[in-house]
Amino acid sequence: MSSCRKILTVFGTRPEAIKLFPLVHALAEDSRFDSRVCISAQHREMLDQVLEIAGVVPDHDLDLMSPGQTLDALTARALVEIGKVLDSEEPDWVVVQGDTTTVMAGAIAAYYRKIPVCHVEAGLRSGHIYHPWPEEVNRRVVGTFAALHCAPTETARDALLKENIDPASVHVTGNTVIDALHWVTQRVAQEPAMASGLSGLERRFAGRKIIGMTSHRRENFGDGMQNIAKAVRAIATRDDVAVIFPVHLNPNVRAVMNEQLADLDNVALIEPLDYPHFARLLDISHLMLTDSGGVQEEAPALGKPVLVMRETTERPEGVTAGTARLVGTDPETIVRETERLLDDEAAYSAMAQAHNPFGDGRSAQRIADLLATT
Ligand code: UD1
Ligand code: UDP
Repeated sequence: MSSCRKILTVFGTRPEAIKLFPLVHALAEDSRFDSRVCISAQHREMLDQVLEIAGVVPDHDLDLMSPGQTLDALTARALVEIGKVLDSEEPDWVVVQGDTTTVMAGAIAAYYRKIPVCHVEAGLRSGHIYHPWPEEVNRRVVGTFAALHCAPTETARDALLKENIDPASVHVTGNTVIDALHWVTQRVAQEPAMASGLSGLERRFAGRKIIGMTSHRRENFGDGMQNIAKAVRAIATRDDVAVIFPVHLNPNVRAVMNEQLADLDNVALIEPLDYPHFARLLDISHLMLTDSGGVQEEAPALGKPVLVMRETTERPEGVTAGTARLVGTDPETIVRETERLLDDEAAYSAMAQAHNPFGDGRSAQRIADLLATT
């Protein structure tokens, strides 16, 4: 390897972009690296929102999103197209983050060329191959051959060691989502107008407790989404709450939510928020109802109770700390647990403790140092 290492960072969706922009910034500012960025654009608008805010300009944009894309088609196209970029760039390292289709395909394309892979947010495991689906298997695949595993927590590191991965290749770095959250909070403090777009809703819902909501997991499509919508309808019968729900662009989510919830005055179905506005939503919310991975990490860092609409989680740290609770997708359980937090002050304060098991905001620099020295 030459003294200046060429790093190709590959990503495709909104959460990967959020969790990788701090590393892309760190690599760009560091003379030890020649940093290149390839986006599969498995997401389009939702990815572009992050790139614009973070000032990341990709060197390669594969523009792979197509409406309602299947896993097979996306995987096949990502593998072939990322492979072509690897052949033209010949990087010393490929960096991927998390567990999407882009991550799995990008890592395999690198492996086929014997290029070492750095896996950011390595070692998350639910222990169940269909929860979340297909992410649990995507990340296990990458874990089998990555040369550098950047585990966000000790729990994630232990999961990798249990799989007999070489301990010398596993490092606890923290999760770069905390770097991203600090970065965006500082930007908004300098320029409040960046996150002022919710002020109309804030005025409309003044005096009510705001429930921030997101939902998009594939394993919840069908009955799961219907049940989640049913729960929200029941919660919205209360006149002391309002739900703000930026709806994911996946048509499987939008169809159900628009059909089931659009007529409710105190439920605002809105377009996906850019990151500064989502951080603002976290800030003004009394609690979060979500099936998202990233939100399970951000909400505890901000002391916001989070009810996770999933049967299992690969992020047990929030549950252990008491800021997150698994509620599944049974409407009665979602409603009961939400009402408990709305009505029982002691239960609410027990959960609303700022707790940050996921990092100290310096993860990107640690990962850059590992890429320079490994
Ligand atoms: C993907 C990831 C999931 C991750 C999620 C983050 C896979 C299999 N799934 O799920 O792990 O948690 O991103 O949000 O990798 N769409 C748009 N515009 C966009 C984004 C999506 O229109 O900017 C619509 C398109 O119709 C697209 C569909 O959403 O076909 C699904 O996108 P896809 O990337 O396949 O899956 P997600 O459900 O977003
Ligand atoms: N997010 C955002 N705008 C939104 C909803 C979420 O910026 O309207 C951010 C959120 O802060 C978190 C990330 O997107 O960092 C989570 O992405 P998502 O839930 O789509 O995916 P997951 O984390 O479940 O893979």
